Amino acid sequence: MPRNPSRGRPRHLDLVADYSKKLGEQPSKIDGVTFRIAVGELTASRASLVLAGELAHIVYSDPPWGPGNLMYWRTMNRERQRPSWDAFLGTFCDVAVASVRPGGHVFVEMGLRWVDQLAAAMSARGLREAGRWTVRYGSPLRPNVLWYSGPGAPCAPDGMSGEPMTSHVLASVATPGALVFDPCCGRGMTARCALRAGMRFAGVELNPDRAAVTRQWCERWMSRSGA
Ligand SMILES: C[S@@+](CC[C@H](N)C(=O)[O-])C[C@H]1O[C@@H](n2cnc3c(N)ncnc32)[C@H](O)[C@@H]1O
Repeated sequence: MPRNPSRGRPRHLDLVADYSKKLGEQPSKIDGVTFRIAVGELTASRASLVLAGELAHIVYSDPPWGPGNLMYWRTMNRERQRPSWDAFLGTFCDVAVASVRPGGHVFVEMGLRWVDQLAAAMSARGLREAGRWTVRYGSPLRPNVLWYSGPGAPCAPDGMSGEPMTSHVLASVATPGALVFDPCCGRGMTARCALRAGMRFAGVELNPDRAAVTRQWCERWMSRSGA
């Protein structure tokens, strides 16, 4: 018998952590805080599970960038099967289009090399590009793009990166209690920025360890804020 029977197996769980707690009468007039995270491959059904009948005010995501990076994340999740980039991009765009409410905002961080493909796939599904900013990924030598579709966002993230950029962008369109959805939510950068801005969060994440980091941060944030 192997010492660790789960070793080497894909870690596809289908857990949904659903946390809804009343904040009570807060000066911010937020009447509830919710976060929901589903663990597993991004699919339309996992997305609707966490959206629970709502449409998102804001979709914000930093999904895999291109076939090599998509494979990297699969390997991190102990999967060996080579994924199809076109299929992933199609699902990601289908989910984004189906999840955002009319007049809502969609922000996608994407490598420079892949952003035109993203824009074409979104456009084929009816989500028109409204802008793109040149932002950074760690180093000024690795410029990437924040792609945007929506009615307009009063932000200026050019040259920014990471959590300060996401915070800045989300704050520019934040409405207390609004639902922010990240279809590839990783270790929770979007969740942190959304909850700090008084919004709610829904996410899907392939890797259970990364999803757990997000869930734990959200739980701690809620207990610290007395929710
Ligand atoms: C660049 S990272 C996201 C970083 C994230 N903003 C954070 O705070 O950690 C991309 C994420 O997409 C996830 N991912 C990759 N392929 C996926 C898929 N098919 N379905 C859902 N999530 C996926 C990876 O596991 C990884 O956590």
